[in-house]
Amino acid sequence: MDVNGIPYRTIWPEQERGVVRIIDQTRLPHELVIAELRTLDDAVRAIREMWVRGAPLIGATAAYGICLALAGGAGDQIVAEAGERLLAARPTAVNLRWGVERMRAALAAVPPHQRPRIGWQEAAAICDEDVAANRSLGEHGAGLIEKIWHQRGDGPVQILTHCNAGWLATVDWGTALAPVYVAHQRGIPLHVWVDETRPRNQGAHLTAWELAAAGIPHHLIADNAGGHLMQQGKVDLCLVGTDRTTAGGDVCNKIGTYLKALAARDNGVPFYVALPGSTIDWRLRDGAAIPIEERDQDEVLFVQGRGEQGVARVRIAPARTPAANPAFDVTPARLVTGLITERGICPASEQGLRQLYPEQRQNRC
Ligand code: MRU
Repeated sequence: MDVNGIPYRTIWPEQERGVVRIIDQTRLPHELVIAELRTLDDAVRAIREMWVRGAPLIGATAAYGICLALAGGAGDQIVAEAGERLLAARPTAVNLRWGVERMRAALAAVPPHQRPRIGWQEAAAICDEDVAANRSLGEHGAGLIEKIWHQRGDGPVQILTHCNAGWLATVDWGTALAPVYVAHQRGIPLHVWVDETRPRNQGAHLTAWELAAAGIPHHLIADNAGGHLMQQGKVDLCLVGTDRTTAGGDVCNKIGTYLKALAARDNGVPFYVALPGSTIDWRLRDGAAIPIEERDQDEVLFVQGRGEQGVARVRIAPARTPAANPAFDVTPARLVTGLITERGICPASEQGLRQLYPEQRQNRC
């Protein structure tokens, strides 16, 4: 996507220098800072500390992390250990495992002296495929938005989204926001309600920044406002991403997504989840088995923002109050109206998913 007229992806290699460049998302929306990953440690830290975040981008960063590890030798043990280090960085997004397994398979197929070249090639392919998948699911989702626009008559289609599932969460285009970008390009009038998404405020920091840069009308709302807006008839569609979708259609996304799905069901608002195939965990049927990341309590106890003296972090709770910080929740398939994928839209069910991905038939959970 363009930022001030310059096209960006969230991650790109400088293979001749043996480095990877990323947008440091901890600095947005106040500064656009490009950071450099030089080592496997850098990649692990960027994932763990959320310089990069969002399921598909985590997978792409893991792929490049393995390339960086190969600078120190490309034997089986180095590849295996690099994978383990990356897998331990964050537990919930299945794209991390998907990216590591895909890199391991590509590297295992060639002798060690060819692995650095094949590694950079495979990581680039993972990124290009992510862009193509997201662009394609954007087309399918835009068709849905267009239908809603025709049904509603006049006025913009009102979309509510949670967390950041825009281009910053992927290599480009995004998942939940890809249909929004494509629909906007097609001239369909839209307005997006952006959940601020405590505790880390990905909605306020990232989604709002993306939409403002793209000139798409939006309002930031407190996380608790969505149910009220739905009761008032001010939401036509909820559109979110997912970090892990089970073979049965349960979706695990940023904490608070489940509450939006409950409110949507109570108010007859369609609740769609957008995802590339890399986000499906074919080994799990039941969302209850998904590991939920528990992050540092300081993310709840402090907020970061820009004051008169620059960017600052302030404590918002009493000094002796502890906090709990589960980072994701599971929305059961029964609350999901449909899944928007690069292959089309399907019901959130095992049958729906397997019809779109018939090659996964052998992957029974
Ligand atoms: O903790 P984060 O910011 O990595 O969480 C990201 C999300 O929950 C996104 O909605 C999800 O990755 C799907 S969007 C590509």
